[in-house]
Amino acid sequence: MWGGRFAEGPSAIMREINASIPFDKALWRQDIAASKVHVAMLGSCGIVSADDVKQIDQGLDAVAAEYEANGVPEDWDLEDIHMTTESRLSELIGPVAGRLHTARSRNDQVATDFRLWTREAMDQMDAGLAALQRALVTRAGEHADSIMPGFTHLQTAQPVTLGHHLMAYYEMIRRDRSRFQDARRRMNESPLGSAALAGTGFPIDREMTAQAMDFDRPTANSLDAVSDRDFALDYLQAAAQCSLHLSRLAEEFIIWASQPFGFVRMPDTLSTGSSIMPQKKNPDAAELVRGHAGRIIGCATALMVTMKGLPLAYSKDMQDDKPPVFEAASLLGLSVAAMTGMVADATFRTEKMRKAAELGYATATDLADWLVREADIPFREAHHITGAAVKLAESKGAALEELSMAELKAIDERIDERVYNALSVEASVAARCSLGGTAPDQVRHQVGLARQALEMD
Ligand code: ARG
Repeated sequence: MWGGRFAEGPSAIMREINASIPFDKALWRQDIAASKVHVAMLGSCGIVSADDVKQIDQGLDAVAAEYEANGVPEDWDLEDIHMTTESRLSELIGPVAGRLHTARSRNDQVATDFRLWTREAMDQMDAGLAALQRALVTRAGEHADSIMPGFTHLQTAQPVTLGHHLMAYYEMIRRDRSRFQDARRRMNESPLGSAALAGTGFPIDREMTAQAMDFDRPTANSLDAVSDRDFALDYLQAAAQCSLHLSRLAEEFIIWASQPFGFVRMPDTLSTGSSIMPQKKNPDAAELVRGHAGRIIGCATALMVTMKGLPLAYSKDMQDDKPPVFEAASLLGLSVAAMTGMVADATFRTEKMRKAAELGYATATDLADWLVREADIPFREAHHITGAAVKLAESKGAALEELSMAELKAIDERIDERVYNALSVEASVAARCSLGGTAPDQVRHQVGLARQALEMD
């Protein structure tokens, strides 16, 4: 394609290090689509004759049909998907194929193809995350009343509802989706027509090609357009942050599935056994989601570091932009699907959760609050009195509400019978009815709003 000024061909090592076809063949659909749009524009602007446009367009369809049927051939001499397609096109239709690359460079071609691919990946991710949200909302609705210990420092803190806990992840995923959607809006400009770096002297119509590929507008600066990979970085950073959330959820499932917790029975379909220990059921899918987050963060880091020192405009370093994006997209897609299945099909052992909340002095704050409310004791003093009650209960191996009235009065005589109403885990969660709180009514309210939002998607 560019042999004219060379006396010798590339060495074997040059061919190998230069070849992006092993991975950028994933862009073939976008490459063909963008080429068809480009040649149609060349025709409508009178740059290529209608007859030639027709031949090229049909030739591109024929190449696409071959790719579809047999896959994309990998010839390192052809370097990438762009040259592979053009070369096959010229084999099929002859020298007229050479007109396709008028007013275009691989620099704007790859920028266009990769944007199209990433835009589609964003849309797919959004759909996957919406499915995860639906699973979370469904389970949260079922468990608006199920009581479990809420933790800080992974120490029992206050009782919460499982529905509330699951809805916390709904919120995280809502932000993840908005990050992908925001990135999509920002990236939706067409670089095609920027040519190598400086634009072109041919009378092209960039509005036309932008529109044909559903871009909002053409990019404004050709130097920027061919050297910009912000869209890929935005995708990777949104993916990295999303992977953190999935990893945290996976971690909770792993802890909850462990025998000392026993809060959840993982679906068999997303667990594995041990080749030596017959009793084992390991949460491998969750562990891999946790592991994949590390790799996805690595992908985001890789592209940031690749881009950070590049002068304008295109440099070959940028060929390395695609593997981390492809890898992150596939890892995140799997992770979202695995977590969706886990949320949908896990069996929550609500009786164990409730017991854990009851035995963990989770309602100690409720006792302190009761002393403030009913006996007008300053909170700091109430905190101290409650501490003494917990200490006594702990020494007896009992729950707070198992202390007798006499025992409680011995700690502080202002305590009376009514306190027992405040000490149950039900009373505790029902009391936390502030907006966004854990009370079952609040959770049902939030679930209702989430359902509406998902319906409007
Ligand atoms: N294979 C290249 C890539 O993926 C295509 C662009 C090549 N442009 C160039 N001037 N060598 O980035």
